[in-house]
Amino acid sequence: MKIDQLQCQREEFGLPDDVRYLNCAYLSPLPRVAEEAGIQGMLRERVPTGIRSSDFFTQADEIRWRFARLVGAADPSRIAIIPSASYGVAVAARNLGVEKGQNIVLLHEQFPGNVYAWRRKAADCGAEIHTVTPPDEPTRGAAWNERILEAIDGNTAIVTLPHVHWTDGTIFDLVAIGRRAREVGAALVIDGTQSVGALPFDVSEIQPDALIVAAYKWLLGPYSTGVAYLGPRFEGGIPLEETWLGREGSEDFKSLVDYQDEYQPGTAIRYDMGQRANFILHPMLQASLDLLLRWSPGAVQEYCRRLAAPLIDAALSLGFSVEQDQWRADHLFGLRMPEGLELEALKAELEARQIFVSLRGSALRVSPHVYNDESDIGALIEALQGAATPTASSGPRGR
Ligand SMILES: Cc1ncc(COP(=O)(O)O)c(C=O)c1O
Repeated sequence: MKIDQLQCQREEFGLPDDVRYLNCAYLSPLPRVAEEAGIQGMLRERVPTGIRSSDFFTQADEIRWRFARLVGAADPSRIAIIPSASYGVAVAARNLGVEKGQNIVLLHEQFPGNVYAWRRKAADCGAEIHTVTPPDEPTRGAAWNERILEAIDGNTAIVTLPHVHWTDGTIFDLVAIGRRAREVGAALVIDGTQSVGALPFDVSEIQPDALIVAAYKWLLGPYSTGVAYLGPRFEGGIPLEETWLGREGSEDFKSLVDYQDEYQPGTAIRYDMGQRANFILHPMLQASLDLLLRWSPGAVQEYCRRLAAPLIDAALSLGFSVEQDQWRADHLFGLRMPEGLELEALKAELEARQIFVSLRGSALRVSPHVYNDESDIGALIEALQGAATPTASSGPRGR
């Protein structure tokens, strides 16, 4: 598929000119359209007469079909509205079966929100957690992926992992991992928080049982919003909250005390969080999803690839180590520092140029988006050079 080249979209965001924000993996800046939608949502709540009972249903559906389209899911009623990735993981842990003696496969240094629920599940069921570690080498993606495939065995009940590692952007081959999971009858749970929106994800190709995404990073949404695709294993399951909106006939506000045993039709609706009709946050998320659908995750990734290329070259020539292209995302990647480079010197260089990245142990996590341009990358290259050769002059450079 040919991806139309995206140009820099900085004007869609309200970032100040002198801020070089290369940290979307931490928190996305809000697009202007989301900001405006949030303000309109607040004004709507000022006079609630404009909020109709049907809005308690339609707003969530607006999110469902947009997210379904973004990840290639045919049926929007497989999308649940959740407040956080941890919530989605808890839904998965509650509903996926694990028996005594089985194992749950996850990754070394996986984000804790996709670990704790599985630890509890394993303890409750008498199962084991199998943590797949990478080899201790600078380029470890290929071998790590092989180890994951080897770790999935006849006793595996659940494989739960991200598409890219949150610390350094290592890519996991979810098509191969999904195939292996299906071979042994294991469920596949994906935490897409650090990838969906900026890296293509195709539900029909990967066939996850659950795809869980907190929206405040690569979906460019507000904090406390999220979405989850839930596959056939979740049909007829038990939600975390028994929401009244999730029950059959709840559209009829006059008859809510005719209590219903049945849920609303659709696999995922019953798993929606309580108060899933959020008249401020969800229009914001809807506006952000529209932007992403317009740009497409493939084009966002391609834009980040073009931005990252000179940075990766410069980092390698300064002695940083970087994962091989094939096993590394371009919207989120780690630069491991060479021995002898002073962390404090690097921090000073970054601060002087108002460059925002994350420092994770001995690695710099860089996570650009379409609001970044070559000047942000140029400034970061200068900062790395300045830290590697401490006498080099430092200071801000114009956009
Ligand atoms: C991989 C990953 N998953 C999930 C989250 C957020 O989890 P939650 O929405 O439960 O706060 C983060 C936050 O950094 C993350 O990196």
